[in-house]
Amino acid sequence: MANNINDLTADFPVLDQQVNGERLAYLDNAATAQKPKQVVDTLVHFYEHDNANVHRGVHTLAERATAEYEEARKKVQHFINAADNKEIIFTKGCTDGLNLVASTYGEQNIHEGDEIVISIMEHHSNLIPWQQLAIKKHAVLKYIELTPEGTLDMDDAKKKITDKTKIVAVAHASNVLGVVNPIKELAKLAHEHGAVFVGDGAQSVPHMPVDVQDLDVDFYAFSGHKMMGPTGIGVLYGKADLLRQMPPYQYGGEMISSVHRDRTEFADIPFKFEAGTQSIAGAIALGTAVDYLEKVGMENVVAKEQELVDYVLPKLEALPYVTVYGPQDPKKHTGVIAFNMDNLHPHDVATALDAEGVAVRAGHHCAQPLMEALGVSATSRASFYFYNTKEDADQLIKAIKATKEFFNGGTI
Ligand SMILES: Cc1ncc(COP(=O)(O)O)c(C=O)c1O
Repeated sequence: MANNINDLTADFPVLDQQVNGERLAYLDNAATAQKPKQVVDTLVHFYEHDNANVHRGVHTLAERATAEYEEARKKVQHFINAADNKEIIFTKGCTDGLNLVASTYGEQNIHEGDEIVISIMEHHSNLIPWQQLAIKKHAVLKYIELTPEGTLDMDDAKKKITDKTKIVAVAHASNVLGVVNPIKELAKLAHEHGAVFVGDGAQSVPHMPVDVQDLDVDFYAFSGHKMMGPTGIGVLYGKADLLRQMPPYQYGGEMISSVHRDRTEFADIPFKFEAGTQSIAGAIALGTAVDYLEKVGMENVVAKEQELVDYVLPKLEALPYVTVYGPQDPKKHTGVIAFNMDNLHPHDVATALDAEGVAVRAGHHCAQPLMEALGVSATSRASFYFYNTKEDADQLIKAIKATKEFFNGGTI
């Protein structure tokens, strides 16, 4: 592994290329992160040497694949400090994990008149499953609103979470506003009212140390691909006693203890929730991504991203034609920076930035109710990861200035 956090191009060959004749500045990490060679090598090695299905074979390859798959589960367990590796369920991704909880725990525990509390900044993955559950069960879905600064309004949270609340589901970090939400406090609040707390860790696990026991979350979902693992693999953490009480999510192979003509006994967790053949290579390569992050050190990931935000945010805010959403203070802002340029559509901005080699995202970022609350239909979004550099930040600012000049016919 390259040992200089400011130059990791040896591990990320994808970053070392030209796009539209310019050096690539990849700033779409909130959508998906790039994969280090180590993760790609793990996939290649698995398929070239160990490929077999897990848990069901006694031959050598099956035993090797099973051992690697279960080792990956332990790596994830330690990474988020879960009490037991049985609490780590491999899923397709964060969306899949959140749907699992809504379809099983939610289906079992939400009744007419119950309340589910989420926040207005949720990604659709942590919004629609609860909205649809509420519709189906004639329950009430409530939203915690924002402060004028663009952070979660905790006074509103205290009003919205009541004894009628059965589930509170909130993102640990926003994919638009660049804020980290106080989910430990929210989980405590939920528990005081007898509700469970579901954390969406899609934008937090890749970027900061996460300790599910310290946070005391009941469920916590995240995606492998945003933390440099492959697509198609994710994790749902759940407290063992809750998981054991929940019905299965899907039925099929692997999730049973015994099947009879008229009944089935299900396997213990986590297998009860892993029906069918999982992304075996994906899980093992996710384990390699965890190894990589642990070698870098999550404290160093936090420090490097903070350094980049400290550097780029004031430069962006200083441009009079740019509006940045979320807190303006870099110390309160993660590497996710949503912005708009006056009188320019975000899609035009993203296309113009791409012409300068800068990859950003434009759109509603799967957060349409948040866009409505912000009074916009879309934004551009630059999102940094620890392998980004100040050169990437400079290229972004330069490209934004060039875009302004281009659309203004030469005047900034
Ligand atoms: C906050 C948040 N939650 C959930 C998701 C969904 O992740 P996935 O599409 O990998 O399931 C995303 C993806 O952008 C996200 O940013």
